[in-house]
This record gives sequence, structure tokens and C-alpha cells, in this order.
Amino acid sequence: MKKSLFYFLLFACQVVFGQSKYLKDVLPFPLGAAVNPRLLAAQPTYREIVSSEFTGLTAENHMKMMLVHPDADRFDFSKGDEILQLAQKEHKRMHGHTLVWHNQVPKWMNEYKGDAAAWEHMLKNHIQEVVGHYRGKVTGWDVVNEAFLDDGSLRPSIWAKNIPDYIAKSFQWAHEADPTALLFYNDYGQDGKPKKMAAILQMVKELKARNIPIHGLGLQMHINIHSKKDELETIINQSSATGLAIHFSELDVAVNPKNDSTFVNTTETQHAQLQRFEWVFLAYLKIPKNQQYGITFWNVTDGDSWLRSYFKRPKEFPLLFDETYLRKPMYDQLVQKIADAK
Ligand code: G3I
Repeated sequence: MKKSLFYFLLFACQVVFGQSKYLKDVLPFPLGAAVNPRLLAAQPTYREIVSSEFTGLTAENHMKMMLVHPDADRFDFSKGDEILQLAQKEHKRMHGHTLVWHNQVPKWMNEYKGDAAAWEHMLKNHIQEVVGHYRGKVTGWDVVNEAFLDDGSLRPSIWAKNIPDYIAKSFQWAHEADPTALLFYNDYGQDGKPKKMAAILQMVKELKARNIPIHGLGLQMHINIHSKKDELETIINQSSATGLAIHFSELDVAVNPKNDSTFVNTTETQHAQLQRFEWVFLAYLKIPKNQQYGITFWNVTDGDSWLRSYFKRPKEFPLLFDETYLRKPMYDQLVQKIADAK
């Protein structure tokens, strides 16, 4: 029997014989997932979980520079559009990720030659073509992604090197292309990195003082079972004190962060992971309601997680669905905990 058919049958059994409440139904805000169009097309069970479990979608890769703008004179919106069409068909919110990043930049941009005006023109054109293409269809954009280092300095990148004030300009250009889109700054690992967090807060302060349109902060939330709750609480409070919309934009909770090859996901580590997920959702519910943009998981099942593919960590289990596409035992407990807390 084909593996995908086997998974689908397993999944169908869970639906018929034991599916309880949906996490999305106990939440007063959108629950998103970053998705991969290849899996949506090839894996009916993946597609079914995306449809039934989530109310928001983010393209895990297919709206990034490298994929959407492969050549200087060519944009390729095909895969991003596929995800958008699914979102529209199923009335899910589409979140855009990401316009300006140091990573996943096409070769032609990395090799681009020109003066500051030419660089500005190139980036402005990129941002405005992409945002313009999705105008009115993408609710919010991660305009700038991961611009600061842990020590609070601006991350060296082709953008920082060639375009003075590129962060503010990027927000301005995105706003011109779609004045209705919510514009986010998105970053990871602010917990326990006070200088990085301070740099982000200072950036927000300065952008606001200059009337540059910034509407939200994305906290990626790639955390693990040892992440310190007090450090997370501090950055959540500091972020929400800006008054901006807050998006937990790439949530996963690693159980084997050191990539121990002998790791076994015991009941203890599973319980620790459940506790972190519970903590994250309950902390999010404490953010003022009008700032709750939503929580987005970074892909759907353990088998699809970037921690396995990108970081080559085969013994990692960071999500709510296992690699056979079933809800993990902690799913129901998480739902119950949130329902009880409301
Ligand atoms: O699609 C190609 C495939 O054709 C090729 O055979 C294969 C060979 O390596 O690569 C495939 O592309 C990979 C792509 O993921 C799709 O799986 C890229 O190599 C790989 O670099 C890329 O990794 C992505 C990573 O960003 C790049 O930095 C991850 O999927 C994606 O989850 C990750 O997402 C980032 C967020 O955008 C920002 N925050 C951190 C997060 C995790 O790094």
C-alpha cells in the first residue's frame, strides 16, 4: 500500500473514531500554519489537516525573494498563488512572508552592482511588485526579517551595506503598494538576548516617531523544552507594550535541541513540550485582544519541519502532529487547557 494512502486511512480512522475538539475552535484569534505547496499537492492527508485545522496560511518559502523573483526581469508567483487560492477558497487569512531578508536571496541580487540609487530602485521594485501582486489579498506582510544580531547591531547584509536606512524605506515602499496591509518586523531568539530585543524596540520607536508605517511585531517562537519562561515573558511583554499587533509567527517547540542521535521522545519530554505549548498559548491570550494577530505553526507535522530538513535533525519532534499525520496525545490536553483558561 502506498505510504500516503496508509497515512490517509490512519487519519480517517482518527476522524471517525476519536477526533475531539479542534484547537482553532477554542482560540479567539487565527491559527496559522506555514505550508509547502509540494506537500499540499502530493499528500492528501497534509492537505486535509491544513484545511481542517488552520484558519491562516503562510508560505514557508514561496513568497521569499529567491523563489518569487528568480531573475532580475522575472517574477514567479505561481506557487505563492496556489497557496493564496487555497486560503481564499477556504476563507483562511493569508500572511505574507517575507519581503526583505538576508537569506534566500537570488544569485542575481547577491551579485547586483550599482550605486545606492540603483540598489534602492531594485529593492523598491521587488517590494512593490510583490506587495502589488497580492494587494488586498494578503492581510499582513513580514516586511523585514531578522535584521538584528544578538548584540543588537544591524546584521551585515547586502541591504544594510548598499541601502542606507533600508528598514524604514522597505516599510514605506510596502505601504505605498498596499495601504491596507499590516506591516510586520519579524525576528527570532529575542528571549535571553536583551540587546537584540532593545534594538528591535528602538527601531519601533524610531519608525513610529518618523511616521513610518509599522503595524506589528512577529516573534518567531522557535523555542525548545528548555526555553526559559521568564525570558519569554519579558520579550512578550516588551513587544506588546509597543501597542503593535503581535504575531507568534513560526511556532515550534524542539524536544531535542542538541540533536542527540540517541534521543528518545519519552513521556517526560512529551510532557515538557506540552507544558511549553500550553504556556505559549496562555501567554498569548494575555496580550490585549486588539493586538492578537494570531499564532502560526512553522509547518504541520514533525516530518515536515524545517528542523528535520534544513537542520538535518532526524530525531526532532517539534509540532502538534506526528509524522504519520496524526494529532499527538498532547493535542487534546492543550485544547482542554486553553478552553479551561478562557
Ligand atoms: O526545494 C529545493 C529542492 O528542490 C532541492 O532539492 C533541495 C536541496 O537542498 O532544496 C530545496 O529547497 C530547500 C527549501 O527549504 C525547501 O525545502 C532549501 O534548500 C532550504 O534552504 C530551505 O530552507 C528553508 C529555510 O527557511 C531557508 O533559510 C526552510 O524550508 C524554511 O522553513 C526556513 O524558514 C525560516 C523563515 O523563513 C524565517 N525564520 C527562520 C525559519 C527557519 O530557518
